[in-house]
Amino acid sequence: MQKVMITGASGQLGLALYRLLQDNSAYELLRTSAFANEGSTIQALDIAEEHAVNEYIQAHKPDIILNCAAMTAVDLCETEQETAYRINALGPKYLAAAAEQIGAKLVHVSTDYVYDGMGNEPYTEELTPNPLSVYGRTKLEGEVFVRENCEKYFILRTAWVYGEGKNFVKTMLRLAEQNNMIRVVADQYGTPTSALELARVIIFLMNTESYGVYHATGEGSASWYEFAKTIFEETGKTVDLEPIPTSEYKVAAKRPMYSVLDNKALRERHGYVMMDWRLAFKEYVSELNAE
Ligand SMILES: NC(=O)c1ccc[n+]([C@@H]2O[C@H](COP(=O)([O-])OP(=O)(O)OC[C@H]3O[C@@H](n4cnc5c(N)ncnc54)[C@H](OP(=O)(O)O)[C@@H]3O)[C@@H](O)[C@H]2O)c1
Repeated sequence: MQKVMITGASGQLGLALYRLLQDNSAYELLRTSAFANEGSTIQALDIAEEHAVNEYIQAHKPDIILNCAAMTAVDLCETEQETAYRINALGPKYLAAAAEQIGAKLVHVSTDYVYDGMGNEPYTEELTPNPLSVYGRTKLEGEVFVRENCEKYFILRTAWVYGEGKNFVKTMLRLAEQNNMIRVVADQYGTPTSALELARVIIFLMNTESYGVYHATGEGSASWYEFAKTIFEETGKTVDLEPIPTSEYKVAAKRPMYSVLDNKALRERHGYVMMDWRLAFKEYVSELNAE
């Protein structure tokens, strides 16, 4: 049996991994997050506390560490730069160093926001990042720390994640309850990614020794506007959607205009193809309806 530690276990990806792994007798799960929830098996562990991370990992000696913890509030990172750095950069550093000490594998999750999005071709893993925001910069610093501090690492860059928790899909559905018309940015492109699809690829990779950097998003691409349109089509809601340019949507953090990722390493090293984002979204909606 392999011991698998999940950090950020109460977040979207952490919960998706739990769903897929919980009944599998090949794994013993150690779930941690920023806070311990009442009645849950999730234990409190702040990944930005070096001593606590070392102590936990030395005590439990996981075979695999899946780092799903992050400060994901992109705009808040602009004003809380110190906290963003602690969680998105120092946290992965401490996890990587502790993983190295016990010879554990580390799966670390990063983001399409490490790129500037100035191009118009999907980004492959070897292209040089150039983040525009504090979130992107601190996530990139986290990647570098992981590479520098541990040998058995997988870095997965993903994008536009939706699962259980706060995300764009939930925001659109909530806005549709309150408004007849919703304005959505139509000139930023990326790829919606189902947390469940991402969890599947993590489970696949963690059982290999093919360490390195991977892009892992749904196949295809969309603007936020196209994503919103699909959300309402698939959930059968009638809403007036107005496409707007980025310049009309004022937010603190600058986003890449075109951050579509090419899952080249997954495809070429493993023949692994992730689900088309629209198909994966249909799966998500059918589960929402079943709830
Ligand atoms: N969401 C996206 O669209 C997106 C896009 C690209 C990449 N990613 C990356 O994908 C990964 C998973 O994202 P997600 O969507 O699952 O994020 P999420 O739902 O925001 O979950 C993040 C988790 O991290 C926990 N956390 C925050 N600070 C922590 C700390 N100091 N110590 C321990 N845990 C802490 C949070 O706990 P609390 O809830 O208690 O704060 C939460 O459980 C992250 O690395 C993120 O950067 C996400």
